[in-house]
Amino acid sequence: MTNEFAIPRSVEWKETHIRILNQQKLPDVTEYADLETKEDVFDAIVTLKVRGAPAIGITAAFGLALAAKSFETRDLSDFRRQLADVKAYLNSSRPTAVNLAWALDRLTDSIRNAISINEAKTTLVHEAIQIQVEDEETCRMIGQNALHLFKKGDQIMTICNAGSIATSRYGTALAPFYLAKQKDLGLHIYACETRPVLQGSRLTAWELMQGGIDVTLITDSMAAHTMKEKQISAVIVGADRIAKNGDTANKIGTYGLAILANAFQIPFFVAAPLSTFDLQIENGDQIPIEERDPDEVRQISGIRTAPEDVPVFNPAFDITPGSLISGIITEKGIVTGSYTEEIEQLFADCQLS
Ligand code: MRU
Repeated sequence: MTNEFAIPRSVEWKETHIRILNQQKLPDVTEYADLETKEDVFDAIVTLKVRGAPAIGITAAFGLALAAKSFETRDLSDFRRQLADVKAYLNSSRPTAVNLAWALDRLTDSIRNAISINEAKTTLVHEAIQIQVEDEETCRMIGQNALHLFKKGDQIMTICNAGSIATSRYGTALAPFYLAKQKDLGLHIYACETRPVLQGSRLTAWELMQGGIDVTLITDSMAAHTMKEKQISAVIVGADRIAKNGDTANKIGTYGLAILANAFQIPFFVAAPLSTFDLQIENGDQIPIEERDPDEVRQISGIRTAPEDVPVFNPAFDITPGSLISGIITEKGIVTGSYTEEIEQLFADCQLS
């Protein structure tokens, strides 16, 4: 048994509020923040107090359910109108991770047939809790499926934090490491620090150490040298949105790692739940890329490291073409190669089962 359960939950439903692990404060301080209004939820997502595609979806779902609880109207149509406004507001907090829209849609779909406001309020809370519960099992299955790709002693590289605190539990890209530890498989992970806001060094290094997993931290610029010198056997990353053809948006720097992995002929895997696929879009060109505050680049943890007014380009994500991805690991299995056909087939099979 590992001690991964020592890792705090990213999000908890508390009936009158939502409690989140404040990821801005990690690794130095393990602090929680209580979100009581839709504005609190919006702010927590925008400022990365809670981040990672599945955790953003879960938090927004709880936020919508919480806001709905406070609606005072007695008219069901008016209730639905107010709900649609809050949904649009929360959905605008971050543009790239499609799990946000997916979770909010799931909530509004769940009350399509509600006949009273009370019923709708209760159903929204239940559905949000259900999303969180399912996400834990989904992540465990992703870990289980990914485990077959690695062997004892492998050295594996990742970027950003696609771990337990980015999800309900286990994570996506980090899930196999927790399961490998339980089986005494001894995988070693190289975590890229992930400039500009350091999800790799602040969060992944911290989380894996909490879980008793072997981790070594490198700066992003050390990736090529490390692949060569440390015999990296695979790269595994999370995803914020995957298009129908397998093109994948993930934290800025992922595309560079995929190109390097290709050059070194190292397998490059994406781990993501089905809720991260966007079947409305054909390819990665249609994925909106969030651009964030220039000060994230001019500063490191609040300390200025560049001229105050230097122009900055700060895209939070990049798109890795499906052609550079060796496999996409989901809770329902691994798709490889002909993504357009395989992804379509995967979703068709899920509808039948
Ligand atoms: O800006 P962030 O920290 O929300 O970006 C997170 C990532 O890019 C993760 O890799 C992705 O959301 C998957 S989390 C399981």
